[in-house]
Amino acid sequence: MNLWVVLPVLAVMALLRLLKVGLLTWVLVWWGALYIGMRYGLAAPAPQSVITLYMSIVTLSLAAYVGSSRERTEGVLGPMIRLMSEKRYTPLLVAIALLIPGLAGYNAYLAAGLREEPPYFSRTVHPAPPPQITVGEREVDLIRSVNPYRELEESDPQAFEEHARAGREVYYENCFYCHGDALGGDGMFAHGLDPLPSDFTDAGVLPNFQESFFFWRVAKGGPGLPAEGGPWDSAMPRWEQFLDEDEMWDVLIFLYDFTDRTPREVGEFVNE
Ligand code: HEC
Repeated sequence: MNLWVVLPVLAVMALLRLLKVGLLTWVLVWWGALYIGMRYGLAAPAPQSVITLYMSIVTLSLAAYVGSSRERTEGVLGPMIRLMSEKRYTPLLVAIALLIPGLAGYNAYLAAGLREEPPYFSRTVHPAPPPQITVGEREVDLIRSVNPYRELEESDPQAFEEHARAGREVYYENCFYCHGDALGGDGMFAHGLDPLPSDFTDAGVLPNFQESFFFWRVAKGGPGLPAEGGPWDSAMPRWEQFLDEDEMWDVLIFLYDFTDRTPREVGEFVNE
């Protein structure tokens, strides 16, 4: 019970009792008081359907009470007939005649109007990276940097294999919890995350960007995402705190190697 609602209503009813108002007023007051009590007087809000049902019963009960004797019926109908027939009530009648369609119109306006919904945020999955970042002591130019071990693929395949193997270790020690055993973005923590961890098998991810882009994302994680286009709420950790630069480049070698993709080259035009 919400006493701040119930007590004033009871006070108003006590006052009306002192004023000895007519039956029509009482019928309206009881109806209103029960509605207010139901709608605002309960500590736990009642569903609208329950309120509608309850108020229908209240309406029927009041009608039955009023109809139960000629005297009561006259007590309610008398003032209404006087309102409509006596000249001195004409202004009031006009006001009521305007008010009813006005309220109905206002109600229709409210129902048709804007719904209160939280604004929709679209998330840019791949925002533009900053031109350069600092990792540890070193400045990394994200526009021109390439993976320092990428060239080994041609020049020294065995050394390249070694980096892919080291990258796999980094991955299965740190990343698969979220990004999945087979890089599908479905690791054991993934179901609890929104946005979901990236799916590296998706053709729209690895081949579309320079490796420096993913170097930025691995080094700076969710906290490093730019403010615009957010909110991000990304669980991607900031790996520069846990991995050294070599390990981050190695894990990228592994991601491309495992999925059999090649990174976009500096200045290369892909899919734009
Ligand atoms: C706690 C879960 C979690 C872990 C662990 C994690 N990530 Fe992520 N990662 C995410 C989420 C979530 C996203 C997607 C949101 C975003 O882009 O920040 C993401 C995004 C990325 C992206 C951006 C991909 C894109 O499409 O732009 C890269 C790259 C990435 N992760 C690499 C890694 C690597 C490498 C590791 C391990 C060293 C790792 N992640 C570990 C949760 C994780």
